[in-house]
Amino acid sequence: MVEKSFRISPETINKIIKDFHSEMSAGLSGRKSSLAMIPTFASMPTGSETGRFIALDLGGTNFRILEITLGGRGRISIPAQHRFRLKTRDITGTQKQLFGFIAASLKRFMLANKIGAGEKILLGFTFSFPVRQTNISNGILLSWNKGFSAKNTVGKDVVQLVNKALKRKGLHNIKIAALINDTIGTLVTKRYSDPGCDLGVILGTGTNAAYPEKKMGEMAINIEWGNFNRLPRTIYDRKMDATTPNPGRQTLEKMVSGMYLGELARLIFSDMTNKKILKPWEFTTTHLSLAESDISRRLGGIARLLKGLGAPSLTYADRLLMKRICGMVSARSAQISAAAIVAVILRIDPGLKRGHTVAIDGSLFEKWPKYRSHIKSSLVAILKEKARKISLALTQDGSGKGAAVVAATASNS
Ligand code: GLC
Repeated sequence: MVEKSFRISPETINKIIKDFHSEMSAGLSGRKSSLAMIPTFASMPTGSETGRFIALDLGGTNFRILEITLGGRGRISIPAQHRFRLKTRDITGTQKQLFGFIAASLKRFMLANKIGAGEKILLGFTFSFPVRQTNISNGILLSWNKGFSAKNTVGKDVVQLVNKALKRKGLHNIKIAALINDTIGTLVTKRYSDPGCDLGVILGTGTNAAYPEKKMGEMAINIEWGNFNRLPRTIYDRKMDATTPNPGRQTLEKMVSGMYLGELARLIFSDMTNKKILKPWEFTTTHLSLAESDISRRLGGIARLLKGLGAPSLTYADRLLMKRICGMVSARSAQISAAAIVAVILRIDPGLKRGHTVAIDGSLFEKWPKYRSHIKSSLVAILKEKARKISLALTQDGSGKGAAVVAATASNS
C-alpha cells in the first residue's frame, strides 16, 4: 500500500510535465504560479572571459570561499579555497551574526592567501535562495529555506548586507560584481566550455534549476523549481512538511532533495513498524543512500549504521523493510527530478531536435551512483529513444566557478 503510493505512473509523469509547462508560462508572465521564474540578469559566457576573482558560496551545508582564475578557452582553476561548516546558530540567529560571519571568514581567507592589500578585488556572490533582482549585483531575499532563518533578512538586499559587514571589518577594496544562484553558477560553468549546455540543475541539500530563456535574449532564468506544488503527496510528505520551518512551501524540494529524504524514510519506517528507534531528523540522506546500497550478507551494513546512531540493529526482516523504504523514497525523488528536467528541456526544444547537456551538481547526483542511474532510467521511461538527446554532466564547483564567470561577463559589459 505505502509502496504503491510512492510509485508515480507514466500518466502522472506526463501530467506533471504539462503542469510544469503551464506554471513556467504563468511565472514568466507574472501570473500567480508556484514557479517564481526569476530573471537573473546573468548572460551566457563565451568561454573567452579572463581574470582573477573571489567567490563566496552560501546556501548549502557549507559556506565556501574560493579564489578563481578564468584562463579563457574554457579553462577555470581554483588556486585556493576554504570550506566552513555552518553551525545552526550561524544560520538561524540574527542577520548581523550571519553576515558578520561571512565578512570575518573572508578577511581570514584573504590574509591566509595573501590576497588584497591595495588591489581592487572583484567578487562573485553565490547566494542560493530565492531573490528578486533588478540588476546583476543586487537581490532582495524573498524567503529562506533549507533550514536557514536568520532574522531581519527577508525583504533586504543581501548584497548591501554583505557590503555593510565588509565595511565593519575594514575591507574596503572589494566590489561585489555579481549575485547569482547556484543553479546559474552550474549552468554558466559548464557553458563556459560547452555551448550545448542549456540547463543547470542542483540536486543537493535543496533542488532547483536554471536555463537561458530565448524570449528574454538568453538571459538565465532561475526557475526555483523546489517550490513546484502540483505533485501527488502522501500522508508522510504532509507529516514531514508540518515539522519544517516553512510548511506548505518547497513541495517538490521536500520530495526530492537531500535535506528531506532521510527524514521521510524515517517517518515511514517508524509508522510501518511502530518502532521509534530513531530520533526526528537524525536519519540523514547519507544514511538513506548507504541503506539503499547495502548488499552485504543479511544487511550487516544497515545493522552497523543503526549501531552508529545508537539504535538497536533490528531483525533481518526489519532491515529488509528499511532498505525497501529507502529504495522507494529515492526512486520517487529521481523520477520527479527526471520529469522536471524533461519539462524544461521540452520547453526549450519541444521536438527534442538537438542534443542538450544538462549540468548537474549536488550530493545526490555526485555521491550516489544508484541515484544517477535512477534518473537515467526515468529519462528513458519518459522519452524512450529520444532520451539519448539529453546528456547529464556532473559539474562540480559550479557555485564557486560560476560566480567568477558571471562576475567576468558582468564587469566586461
Ligand atoms: C533552494 C533555493 C534555491 C537553490 C536550491 C539549491 O531550492 O530556493 O535558490 O537553488 O535550494 O541550492
